[in-house]
Amino acid sequence: MEKQIEKLKNEKKAVILAHYYAPEEAQRVADYVGDSFYLAKVAKKTTADIIVFCGVSFMGESAKILNPEKKVLMPDLSADCPMAHMVKPGKIEEMRSRFSDLAVVCYINSTAELKCQSDVCVTSSNAVKIVRALPNKNIFFIPDRNLGRFVAEQVPEKNIILNDGFCPIHAAITKESLQALKNEHPYAEVLAHPECEPEVLKISHYIGSTSDIIDYAKKSEGKEFIICTEDGVNCKLASDNPDKKFFFVSPAPCCKDMKLNTLENILSVLEKEDKVVEIDEDTREAALVPLNRMLECAG
Ligand code: 13P
Ligand code: SF4
Repeated sequence: MEKQIEKLKNEKKAVILAHYYAPEEAQRVADYVGDSFYLAKVAKKTTADIIVFCGVSFMGESAKILNPEKKVLMPDLSADCPMAHMVKPGKIEEMRSRFSDLAVVCYINSTAELKCQSDVCVTSSNAVKIVRALPNKNIFFIPDRNLGRFVAEQVPEKNIILNDGFCPIHAAITKESLQALKNEHPYAEVLAHPECEPEVLKISHYIGSTSDIIDYAKKSEGKEFIICTEDGVNCKLASDNPDKKFFFVSPAPCCKDMKLNTLENILSVLEKEDKVVEIDEDTREAALVPLNRMLECAG
């Protein structure tokens, strides 16, 4: 199947992008594998005619918003991120009416409709940098309360108002399960994604995006690591560091939506070109503004 995918990809001038949470088989056939920020940059620059995005809907949507003239396909259009919808209707307008200088900062894990109402997008690898550089004092950070809280701790000079969204996969990593694993591996360094709950972050050694975690593990002289994020990152961690050990809490955090990006679905979408990401032009133009602002601010 991998050979058929390769052949079709070349014939159709397609490029395959995969997030670190996609199944190992998808990461293997992908031209680019990375975190949300890296993949957004790749999607903006690619010269391919077709982008096959092995991720979840907000990632495919962002690729389409940045690249309206390209065909963006997803191996399974139902792959969605529940957190992307977790802002109550009317909440943004309510906050804007309460603070005249409000900036709405939108984690890229959000629907195109939410992006349209926001001033700037961020990802977990650039949120601190972007929020710190904003001229506004009052920030409404949507949808993730945990990334928002982490940013607020790093940028205490801002008044960051949190929204009550969260990632169910990261929220399922409990302090108790992490502590039990720490007891089993007392020398392991704990590397956590900022989407984890605060009590997990409090007992972690390092907090960063998926690529930050991967970079940290590579550079560290440590030999054992407990990884508090989705278990798809293990492919890159293991291949970069054959002499190091990586442990995940049990049951291993698994984003079932990301796992819809199977080889069968990739081959099928390349053959049929049927799972097309579509966004109406008004929404696309409005959502492009905060996405472009993120790309400019993060450099
Ligand atoms: P990254 O910003 O590390 O790619 O994380 C995206 C994500 O969905 C985390 O759950
Ligand atoms: Fe969304 Fe969580 Fe899956 Fe990331 S891991 S795509 S935040 S549900």
